[in-house]
Amino acid sequence: MADGPTLIPLDNVDPALVEALLDRAFEPERHTRTAYKVREGTDWLPALSFAAIDADEHLVGTIQCWPVALTDPAGRRHPMIMVGPVAVEPEAQGQGYGQALMTASIAALSPQAPLPQVMIGDPEYYGRFWGFTNAHTGGWDLPGPFERHRLLVRCDNPAILPAEGTLGPWRG
Ligand SMILES: CC(C)(COP(=O)(O)OP(=O)(O)OC[C@H]1O[C@@H](n2cnc3c(N)ncnc32)[C@H](O)[C@@H]1OP(=O)(O)O)[C@@H](O)C(=O)NCCC(=O)NCCS
Repeated sequence: MADGPTLIPLDNVDPALVEALLDRAFEPERHTRTAYKVREGTDWLPALSFAAIDADEHLVGTIQCWPVALTDPAGRRHPMIMVGPVAVEPEAQGQGYGQALMTASIAALSPQAPLPQVMIGDPEYYGRFWGFTNAHTGGWDLPGPFERHRLLVRCDNPAILPAEGTLGPWRG
């Protein structure tokens, strides 16, 4: 992949193909994951969601981003972007698709007003390449079980992040 992967906006892809890829990349019970509850009832954001295709134009990876909010103890809602799932076909993993998809979504954020980005993932992978950290999420809660060290945030100015709050879907 000398030229790097080809990425296209995710809304160019048949949703059934995206679901089938997610089924192969994750366990069949993926819909019960807490991440699904955080974004329940919202639609993924077309401007921040991408697909990777191989040289034969087969779908090999996807990333979706969602509008969510952290509600602090005073009831104030802080809008954030939830990143993920990031998924790459099992046989295409380790070839740079995951990194290209993540980098595309992060690059597509508005430089004028980037919202904090949250995700549930391995801090080693998402910290190493994009600076996600669990350092500011110790007082945050989710609508279901989760591994605390895997709740990650990325923010230019972490001082704006509430120390406590619960993540859920953004409803305007
Ligand atoms: C996680 C995932 C998206 C990574 O995509 P990928 O295309 O395989 O990864 P890339 O080729 O871009 O990056 C590979 C590098 O990241 C590292 N890496 C990949 N997954 C990692 C993880 N979970 N933890 C730490 N490092 C990881 C690899 O070791 C490799 O590093 P190297 O280049 O130094 O050898 C992909 O493996 C996947 O779909 N997994 C199943 C679904 C999943 O768990 N998604 C993440 C949760 S939303």
